[in-house]
Amino acid sequence: MIQGLMTVTYIGAIILFILSLGGLSNPETSRRGNLFGIIGMVIAVVATLVGPRVEGGDSYLYILVAMATGGTVGILSARQVKMTQMPELVALMHSLVGLAACLVGMADFINPSAHYAADEKSIHLIETVVGILIGAVTFSGSLVAFGKLSGKIGGKPLLLPARHLLNLGLLLVVLFAGRAYVDAIDIPSGFWPLVIVTVASLLFGIHMVMAIGGADMPVVVSMLNSYSGWAASATGFMLSNDLLIVVGALVGSSGAILSYIMCRAMNRHFLAVIAGGFGTGGGATPAATGGGPQGEVQAITAAETAELLNQASSIIIVPGYGMAVAQAQHTVCEITTRLRDRGASVRFGIHPVAGRMPGHMNVLLAEAKVPYDIVMEMDELNQDFPETDVAIVIGANDIVNPSAQEDPNSPIAGMPVLEVWKAKTSIVMKRSMAPGYAGVDNPLFFKENNRMLFGDAKKMLDEVLSGLRK
Ligand code: TAP
Repeated sequence: MIQGLMTVTYIGAIILFILSLGGLSNPETSRRGNLFGIIGMVIAVVATLVGPRVEGGDSYLYILVAMATGGTVGILSARQVKMTQMPELVALMHSLVGLAACLVGMADFINPSAHYAADEKSIHLIETVVGILIGAVTFSGSLVAFGKLSGKIGGKPLLLPARHLLNLGLLLVVLFAGRAYVDAIDIPSGFWPLVIVTVASLLFGIHMVMAIGGADMPVVVSMLNSYSGWAASATGFMLSNDLLIVVGALVGSSGAILSYIMCRAMNRHFLAVIAGGFGTGGGATPAATGGGPQGEVQAITAAETAELLNQASSIIIVPGYGMAVAQAQHTVCEITTRLRDRGASVRFGIHPVAGRMPGHMNVLLAEAKVPYDIVMEMDELNQDFPETDVAIVIGANDIVNPSAQEDPNSPIAGMPVLEVWKAKTSIVMKRSMAPGYAGVDNPLFFKENNRMLFGDAKKMLDEVLSGLRK
């Protein structure tokens, strides 16, 4: 009876998670999607707590203490973290999913009969090895990604000699030690093989992400998101928990689809990303691209920018990481309203890897209440730049870099970009001539029809707003 009830509840939670993913695919329905996810998770947790697996008594005390501690840390860190630090927080969260999979694997090793019948032993031991492999790779890889995103570790790819052989060697070690673990006759003789599986998997995760350059970080973020799903799924297999298996697979496969979208947005092959070595990263130093673009930069003032906007009838705004840093989205929204009120067409062009996490710009614009129907994807409006009076770039750099199309030797060659330089006038708003995240110089700044509005995006936009016609 209880088991039947659990199955029904789990199916209800799974449906809610699927509805949640569906809702999150569109800004207009994302709040509802989030709500479905929360309800599904509450149902799943409550059903697990009252289900037959939790033995009552002290178990509830341990679970409540763990939930209260984890919940408090989660709430405090989510409240404190700035929007621009979100990708780092997400990477840390992914590492915890990996760690949980490893710990469940270890617990299974210590108390092997807890979750399976005697005739399922071999398959269960294989599940443990696979779970620890995925969990450890996710754990160490996510920690390195956290280090790279937060600048604690340099963005430059670590290219060890014979690195592919090293990866292959580590995987072979996992395979042989895993086999030894499955064949072990008793618990003590399985100890060292399991330790070797864990250490080799941890090293594999560190080496894999260390070899990936800063410019490929968007793919790494979504790839680790996918891995964390598979790690949760592996945990589900180890605990014989169907809900965890399905939910993990949902996260794993949606993360894989996102990785594919990111790769397409950057014109990169997934395997080439994993093989590593692309991009310098950090954004601190320009890449050595043979002297960089030359020419004269034409600066513009906020008042002159306002005048250009006053006269324009079609405007495309391209936001980037700098808008997030400056928290300029609310002023951007006010400017948009003012321009639309006097009849101008204003649209936003969103690059798939703008900012530092998938959907970064969409979230900020939605928060500022910019209408969804004028927020377009890159492919939807790239062909419209030649008919656009003013393209205004707010704190973006790599995603509007023409060298991706014009210079086959550029580190970002082939990456699709927003072609703002084709507008009648383009205005780039940033504080200096420094390069963006990929560390690549930007010839856009020197184009004849381009103007540079130097300064903090929020401060400059406030000044532009005050110069706009009412
Ligand atoms: P970036 O190329 O990083 O350029 C952002 C620009 O904003 C910088 O050049 C900076 O120039 C300017 N800026 C910073 N603070 C500012 C402020 N307060 N006011 C005005 N400007 C400011 O950003 P992007 O064009 O959005 O491209 C994203 C890059 O990040 C891509 O290379 C992408 O691969 C990478 N990335 C993306 C993700 C995801 S998933 N979206 C994850 C990791 C990495 P100044 O210093 O001169 O002001």
